Amino acid sequence: MRLALIAIAALIAMPCEAARTIDFASSSVGADALVVAISDERDLSALAAAAGPDVAVSVAKAVERAKFKAKVGETASFLSGADAGGEVHLVGIKKNGMRARDWAEFGGRAGQLALKSKAALVMIIGAGDAAHTAMGAALGQYRFLKYKSEKDEQQGALAIVAPDAGAARAAYERGPRHVADAALWARDMQSEPANILYPEEFVRRTREAVKGVSGVTIEVLDVPAMEKLGMGAILGVGRGSVRPPRMLIVRYRGAGAAAPIAFAGKGITFDSGGISLKPNDGMWQMKSDMTGAAVSVATVIALAKSRAAVNAVGIAALAENMPDGGAIRPGDVLRSMSGKTIEIMSTDAEGRLVLADAVWYAQLKDKPRLLVDIATLTGSVRTALSDEYAGLFTRDDETASRLLKAGEIAGEDLWRLPLHPNHFKQIKSEIADVKNGDTGQPGASTGAAFIASFVKEGQPWAHLDIASVDWLAEGTATAPKGASGFGVRLLYELARAAPE
Ligand code: BES
Ligand code: ZN
Ligand code: MN
Repeated sequence: MRLALIAIAALIAMPCEAARTIDFASSSVGADALVVAISDERDLSALAAAAGPDVAVSVAKAVERAKFKAKVGETASFLSGADAGGEVHLVGIKKNGMRARDWAEFGGRAGQLALKSKAALVMIIGAGDAAHTAMGAALGQYRFLKYKSEKDEQQGALAIVAPDAGAARAAYERGPRHVADAALWARDMQSEPANILYPEEFVRRTREAVKGVSGVTIEVLDVPAMEKLGMGAILGVGRGSVRPPRMLIVRYRGAGAAAPIAFAGKGITFDSGGISLKPNDGMWQMKSDMTGAAVSVATVIALAKSRAAVNAVGIAALAENMPDGGAIRPGDVLRSMSGKTIEIMSTDAEGRLVLADAVWYAQLKDKPRLLVDIATLTGSVRTALSDEYAGLFTRDDETASRLLKAGEIAGEDLWRLPLHPNHFKQIKSEIADVKNGDTGQPGASTGAAFIASFVKEGQPWAHLDIASVDWLAEGTATAPKGASGFGVRLLYELARAAPE
């Protein structure tokens, strides 16, 4: 009995989104199923080399019969006969110019096919960039099964065939693996319901995640600490909830005394709208209104685990936006840490409030060489950009091009949106220094202008509105539907690319 209990406890402690384990192999000997990269030339020589000419010939015939064109992203599955090792899955890739992000997408599709297969050992062949293929496979297999009583867990393994498996594994461990882990961690945080994940629990999980990671320190501001600093904006947002707010700062030092790059993330663990209550339709999704915070923290952890030669700071501005007797009201005035007073027009424009104190604190404490805030800030950015892009706002073209480039490389695309002097007029208040929006102007640019007014002159800064991409209605190759972890790959790339 005792033994049985221990076994059950071990099961519960297991990661629930058990995907296939990922490794590398120098040959496909022993595979029960193959996933093969194929361009529209439909060249099956990689398959012939791996599984023998007979298999390649029979698959070639099946490809012909099925009129499979092998366009990018197109997949097809064949049974190749008993002695040929069972299943063969084909995934279309580009003929030329495959970049890291393309290999990740290929890996994601391969991983999703493998997840559905019953084969014990699935091998991927034809992957040029094995490390990014592996990263994509890890991302593409994501599922959040924690609360399912009956789990249909995948027990099998997945191996990427590379001429030098050891070198491929080393390349994976140097970075892409930690990026995948960080994005999966952020997705778990997003998916976690708000009765489980609230500011203090976010802090606890972060402490757990950085345990034993060298070069990382954590600072946590509780309510008295924030009161002392005069953080009236984030404190105001937290006032309507029984779960107190927190400001969490994770710092990684990998480059001595150099000025860090800083990420400030909106961490609303649930956004009911507060007194300006949201309609119930889709309100459940506001459990992921902390994506920016999770992504900021996760990126710093990924940088630390890959021993990147950068200094990076991740800030999570954590609060729950709820309506109770203590909650702030429309018309209230709050004093932010910067000294600027804010008139509340809508308690549902809470993200910019917690960020006002977060970006101010970051500038004061860390003097970052670049400050990027990341937030599920506005519904209007979703209307404008759908699932395809996150909105990018910045005052200077150089910062814009650095971010656009990082997104392009990472496979998390940005679209630049305007920040015009008129957007600053929209946040002028009759009675305070600024106001947090207006019901008539729920624009993404207005939100950006609000945050910009807490950024000092000369401070390189960008704002990412990720409300379009944080939660996907339809899955992609590397992000199944639901929590996307959008921003980890982008910010990791940005931190590593930027000159110190
Ligand atoms: N968290 C929401 C934005 C959001 C909406 C994110 C849908 C993801 C999906 C944000 O706090 C909000 O409520 N924004 C308001 C601002 C308005 C009151 C000025 C909006 O966009 O309507
Ligand atoms: Zn919100
Ligand atoms: Mn809101």
